[in-house]
Amino acid sequence: MSDPHPLDELLDLYRSDKATAMYDEVVTEREHALQAAELAEAAGAPAATVAAALLHDVGRLTIAWDSAEGAFVAADRAHDSVGERLLGRWFGPEVTAPVGMHVAAKRYLCATEPGYADRLSPVSVRSLEVQGGPMTADEVHAFEARPGWEAAVQLRRWDEQAKSTEPAAKAVDDYRPLLESLLRDG
Ligand SMILES: [Fe+2]
Repeated sequence: MSDPHPLDELLDLYRSDKATAMYDEVVTEREHALQAAELAEAAGAPAATVAAALLHDVGRLTIAWDSAEGAFVAADRAHDSVGERLLGRWFGPEVTAPVGMHVAAKRYLCATEPGYADRLSPVSVRSLEVQGGPMTADEVHAFEARPGWEAAVQLRRWDEQAKSTEPAAKAVDDYRPLLESLLRDG
């Protein structure tokens, strides 16, 4: 028997049934993650940002699925901070911070980029309300002072695009070497 790998617990979430739950009408959670990572790689993003793109919705895989509700319980309210905290077991802030800020980045873009809010999907518009709506000027200022905010904004754009009917070329395990290179204690 081989020793358990430090990343198994994390990658198992993406190999599990939870990852085959639908993210939206088109893609599963797993496919959404893979497409986001692929977009980050195509943009030439650093490894930590590619990892953040792959793992940005990990909080949704750990928040209980409510079968009566047919939805992840409070997924839009807390999955960013749940994910950030969980990923801190393996990675440093260069990976975890953009994950923790990717919902705030939507509120940021709604406040700072004309036309951005108009391009949001109906689901995303609904969750924006729950998330607090567009940022105020003070919130924009505070957001731009936080380390990792620019990566969070990039991640947000890939997040919006990672809903294609064209499947990603790579599998979750293809990212293992990249993730290993970012392990905090490795
Ligand atoms: Fe996402």
